[in-house]
Amino acid sequence: MNRVYVCSCFGITEQQVKKHAENGACTPRQVASACKAGTDCGSCVRRIQAILGRGECPRRELADQGKPVLSALDEAA
Ligand code: FES
Repeated sequence: MNRVYVCSCFGITEQQVKKHAENGACTPRQVASACKAGTDCGSCVRRIQAILGRGECPRRELADQGKPVLSALDEAA
């Protein structure tokens, strides 16, 4: 197993971040509250963001589309 540490302060691996993403943590903040990653030096936040941005979170797209969803509703009305 190759262990890629995303957050070395808390020893959080990319695998763990993905796991949290699967469990619904779609933002670095949510990952932070799940496993503390990013709450110390903060240098890993961008890496966490990058992992989340790769679509590891199935719900992320919906979150990203907050505005489009609203305007889609407008169009439907
Ligand atoms: S590397 Fe994640 S908080 Fe420092």
